[in-house]
Amino acid sequence: MTIQQIYKLAIELGIKNDLRGTARVKKYLERSKKQFKELPEKKKEEFDEEKLTNPYSDSRILNEPTRLRQACLPAKQGSGVVKKVLIGVDMEGPELILADKMGDIDLVIAHHPEGHALADLHGVMDLQAQVLADYGVPINIAESVLRPRISEVNRGVSPINHYRAVDMARLLDMGFMCVHTPCDNMGANFLVKLLKKKKPETVEDILEMLKEIPEFKEAVKRKAGPTLFTGSPENMAGKIVVTEFTGGTAGSKDIYEKMANAGIGTVIGMHMGEEHRKEAEKYHLNVVIAGHMASDSLGINLFLDEVEKRGIEIIPTSGLIRISRCKF
Ligand SMILES: [Fe+2]
Repeated sequence: MTIQQIYKLAIELGIKNDLRGTARVKKYLERSKKQFKELPEKKKEEFDEEKLTNPYSDSRILNEPTRLRQACLPAKQGSGVVKKVLIGVDMEGPELILADKMGDIDLVIAHHPEGHALADLHGVMDLQAQVLADYGVPINIAESVLRPRISEVNRGVSPINHYRAVDMARLLDMGFMCVHTPCDNMGANFLVKLLKKKKPETVEDILEMLKEIPEFKEAVKRKAGPTLFTGSPENMAGKIVVTEFTGGTAGSKDIYEKMANAGIGTVIGMHMGEEHRKEAEKYHLNVVIAGHMASDSLGINLFLDEVEKRGIEIIPTSGLIRISRCKF
């Protein structure tokens, strides 16, 4: 596979596993195309045309090295094929130097966004409103609660030196890509399906269910496994939602009141800040925090299995708990 093919595969898998459903994501892309068409010529130059086919602004190819770009030339056929990938949760300068030192890495894949994908992280957060709507929070309420938080995230990432690692990849002539929401969608979809199958009744049942998943089992050993942030293990779980697993980053803390009003009993998330936790507690929600690295690993692994099946060697690092579910 080439870098382009791996990127395309990631986006396809992200759409296939999107909690909004494939049809809704396609409509979302159609709206982007319409918006682009209606833009004045000058504004079209500024538009990120990747948005016409990729609904995830936090996932992009960040650097295509010259040696792989030459793949398209007939004389160099085969040279553009990625054979070995170094992948982890956060892949920045140190990991890029590691990849270069290892000598045979063709591509570095980061889970958390870098470069322009980091600068546009907020662009993927509208996914959260639709997911909340599907769980019973009216879409108008979900959107209006989320909107100020999206602006806040936009302002929050703006001072970051987004291109620091990308510039390094360019100088090292190293392939560099980030795949964030597609992986998180795969992890979230995995859990939604598992909840339907296992039907946990109590909060404890949810914790037990999570701890049976190999990534979380390993995370328990690493003292970073599933934890109850609010509520009690013996509480009835009620309506369980996977709302804090995908969609860029943490949503608004003002959503918990609306979730409680919509009849939601338990939230499963990757991580949660103290302010959010207090709000969730105030509205009597149970919050099960699955653990950040283990949750990210689950989604990354489901994506990597598809990459591995296509003959690419995977080297995990930077917090990634690699569990392969490939059956060769
Ligand atoms: Fe993450």
